[in-house]
Amino acid sequence: MAEAPSANTTLRLAGKIAIVTGGASGIGEATAHVFANEGVRKVVIADIQDELGNQVAMSIGNERCAFIHCDVANEDEVQNLIQTTVNTYGQKLKGSSL
Ligand SMILES: NC(=O)c1ccc[n+]([C@@H]2O[C@H](COP(=O)([O-])OP(=O)(O)OC[C@H]3O[C@@H](n4cnc5c(N)ncnc54)[C@H](O)[C@@H]3O)[C@@H](O)[C@H]2O)c1
Repeated sequence: MAEAPSANTTLRLAGKIAIVTGGASGIGEATAHVFANEGVRKVVIADIQDELGNQVAMSIGNERCAFIHCDVANEDEVQNLIQTTVNTYGQKLKGSSL
């Protein structure tokens, strides 16, 4: 079951997009849960363990979490991670021409 967002009214990551490399287990997994509870708009788990990564994303909930396969030792995969995250979840800043 997906986690409910924290009732904390001073969410430190409200509206942010976060990428957690190594987020499928251990410290990264715990970090992804903390970020979700701090109000991120989306936390992207990037890891080489697809099954575990998808399980963690599902436990947080598809609304706020997604898994993208990425080996951080592979430059092309890291570029793909960033590009996919920006393209899918990025938003134009007011007044920015980017
Ligand atoms: N300095 C300290 O006191 C301290 C304490 C604990 C852990 N650590 C270090 O922190 C790191 C994380 O520890 P952990 O217990 O969470 O480990 P863990 O093995 O549970 O988690 C590491 C995650 O990184 C992923 N990963 C491994 N290689 C990857 C790659 N090339 N690309 C993407 N993802 C990859 C794994 O699939 C796994 O999900 C380790 O390097 C550990 O040695 C340091």
